[in-house]
This record gives sequence, C-alpha cells and structure tokens, in this order.
Amino acid sequence: MNNNITVLGIETSCDETSAAIYSSKSGLLSHALYSQIPLHAHAGGIIPENAARPQLEKIRGIVASAIETSGKEINDIDVIAVTNTPGLAGSLLVGLNFAKAMAWARQKKIIGVNHLEGHIFSSFIEHKDIPFPHLCLTASGGHTELYLVYDFGVFELIGQTLDDASGEAFDKIATRLELPYPGGQAIERLALTVDNHDFFSYPRPTAKTLDFSFSGLKTAVLYDMVKRNAYDLKTKKLLQKDNVFKAQVASSLQVCIGDTFVHKLTLALSLHRTVRAITFVGGVSCNRYLKQRIMALCAQHGKTFFAPSAQFCTDNGAMIAFVGHYRAQKQEFSPWSLDIFE
Ligand code: KG4
Ligand code: ZN
Repeated sequence: MNNNITVLGIETSCDETSAAIYSSKSGLLSHALYSQIPLHAHAGGIIPENAARPQLEKIRGIVASAIETSGKEINDIDVIAVTNTPGLAGSLLVGLNFAKAMAWARQKKIIGVNHLEGHIFSSFIEHKDIPFPHLCLTASGGHTELYLVYDFGVFELIGQTLDDASGEAFDKIATRLELPYPGGQAIERLALTVDNHDFFSYPRPTAKTLDFSFSGLKTAVLYDMVKRNAYDLKTKKLLQKDNVFKAQVASSLQVCIGDTFVHKLTLALSLHRTVRAITFVGGVSCNRYLKQRIMALCAQHGKTFFAPSAQFCTDNGAMIAFVGHYRAQKQEFSPWSLDIFE
C-alpha cells in the first residue's frame, strides 16, 4: 500500500447513516450523513427495529455522495473502515454487510472499528496537534466514560457510568418535561433562557472514584418535581407546563451535570498528573455550557482543551474513517469473517 492511504469510513451503529473519506495527504475530504431524528421524534426516541430499514435504503446513496464530494473515485479508495461494535444489531449489520460487499466486489481491505474508539479520536478530525497523554471524556446517549489516551489506538478506561449515561439523563428528563426528542438540545436551549442558573440544587456525587452514576440524578429530579406539585407520579403527567419552570429544571440539571463532570475530571487530573490536555467528545459534548465548564477547568490547570465541532460530536462516519486510517497505516486489517458485536 502506498504512503497516501485513502479510507472510506461507514457508521450505522445507532440511528445515523454516515460515510466519509479521509486521506493521508489531505485529511477529511468529505462527510455525508442521513439522520433519522425526524423519524424518531414522534415516538420520543429510537425504536431499534425501526432504525435499520431506512439505513438499508439510504446507505448506498450516502456512500455514493461521500465519494462524489471527496473528488475521488472508487478506484482511489484503499480501505473500507466500518463500525462493527457496539450498537444496535440490525443497524450494525447494514453497515458491515454493505462494507463487505463493496470491499469484495472492488478488492479493498476492510477494518472493523469500535464506535467508542471513533468518538475517542474524533477531536483529531479537526485538530492535528492534540498532545499525548490526554484525558478523554466521552459522553453520549449510551456511554459516559473517562479514558487515558496514550497514543493512536492506545487508551485505557479509567472511569465509566455504573448505570445510565449522561445523554440518557438529558433525554429521559426532557421526556418528563414534554420536550422534543432528542432531549439534550432542547434542555440546552431552555437553560439558556434562564442564564444557566442552579435553581433546585440536585444532588452531586461526592465519592472519590472516577465512575459516574446518572440514574440517581434522574430519580432526584423526578421526586423534586413531584414535591413541587409539578409532576403526578400516578398518571405520569406533567402538571406544571409553564416554560419558566421547565427552564429552571433544565438549567439546574445542566449545572449539576457540569459540576459532576468537573468533579470527576479534577480527580482524574490529580491522579494522572502527566496528562497534557482534555478532550470532550460524544453527542453531549455539543452542549456549549458543558464545554465552557471543561474549558475553564483546563485553563485553571494549565491543560489544553479540545472538542470536535457539533457535526463530529454526534455519530459520524468521519471518526470511523480517521481510526481506520491510522489502523491501515499500521497494516491492522480485519479478516472477511469480521462480525458485529452488540
Ligand atoms: O454520540 P451520540 O450522537 O449517539 C450515541 O452514541 O449515543 O449522542 C446522542 C446523545 C443524546 O442523548 C442527546 O440528547 C445528546 O447526545 N445531546 C446533547 C446535546 N446534543 C445532543 N446533550 C446535551 N446537550 C446537547 N446540546
Ligand atoms: Zn456515539
């Protein structure tokens, strides 16, 4: 394989269908994405059985669009990288089978990529100079994890959620507040209207461990709403529909999650003094308030802060192409027997 490797990355692990082209010489050349958010909005979330069918219909067009806008042709692609774990089985199968069929027909190598590794290195798509070792806080709808990142593909899990992910807390509380799906964005918008103030002081973690827990916070918010006669537990109905009250809940929740992230990262910095930077990735890292909190922490500790732009915080093919690229440089290809793992 020549020194200028061109990789097609494919991501279909959850409800997105995305493809991107990344090359050694020019970095990211294109990125195409089909989002199912409008399809799932009426159900208030993803129904796994309904996610794979539209992906099957869209994947060919999305891959074609990524290749076309990259200015490359199929013949220029050396490797196809595809998310094979973790995710929804049906959705993962759509991406993997498409990648295998294309690789077989066009005689390309394939590389199976772990979706979480994609998120961990997603800041590199736009920032080439992130120093190692660094801390990476991955916060999405399914994961909240802290990693110590030593090099490309070399990282260690040092903390993780014991129950719900932070994105799940945003989404579930948003549903209780009758806000549109996905909840994180709606909470951020509402919190801005009351200047991100902490109105209700929900409980913060005090334990000196790097693990997270968000299920207690979800319950604490619910019982606080019940206490204020804002929510009826029996009928599961929101009683206080006033936008100011909803904004106060949204804002208090956001400040509480911000405090939790800062608390855990401060502890991680004290335990791992050699880290030079912090990266904040995954769908929740779209949140500007949370980003500012971590940025301020970095400034305080003399560390550099990096986060992807919003289009690469949420699931995307570019992060899969990026990981596929450094794996291809190391000649770490997958066999044809590559399978999916939920
Ligand atoms: O990484 P992602 O697109 O998918 C998973 O791998 O889960 O993350 C989706 C999550 C959802 O829970 C969504 O509510 C959350 O990211 N999210 C946000 C914001 N935008 C998306 N959370 C807080 N603030 C946001 N602005
Ligand atoms: Zn994700």
